[in-house]
Amino acid sequence: MRRELLGPSFYEISKRYTEEDIDELVKSMLQGSSKKWGKFSMPPQKLTKEEAYTIAKWIIVLKNKSH
Ligand code: HEM
Repeated sequence: MRRELLGPSFYEISKRYTEEDIDELVKSMLQGSSKKWGKFSMPPQKLTKEEAYTIAKWIIVLKNKSH
């Protein structure tokens, strides 16, 4: 069941994207994101490019985990 929080869970994000989309996720984290998931926007996160890239790769791997 989808619980409505401010933003999507990392698991939900993993289901929508693939390895090909890592640059897009990095951009969302560093520059912020809006209108892709719902009515709330994510502000830019204080991460280095390397940190955002590592997190994006980790998020994508979650698609293989059972929930
Ligand atoms: C280091 C912390 C965070 C990480 C790694 C992270 C990561 C992400 C990622 C990867 C997405 C998907 C973006 C896309 O589809 O392109 C997302 C969406 C979102 N996040 Fe975060 N997030 C973080 C912190 C936050 C915080 C603090 C907030 C709220 C203040 C937030 C609110 C949201 C919202 C509302 C969305 C949906 C945006 C949209 O509809 O486009 N996030 N987040």
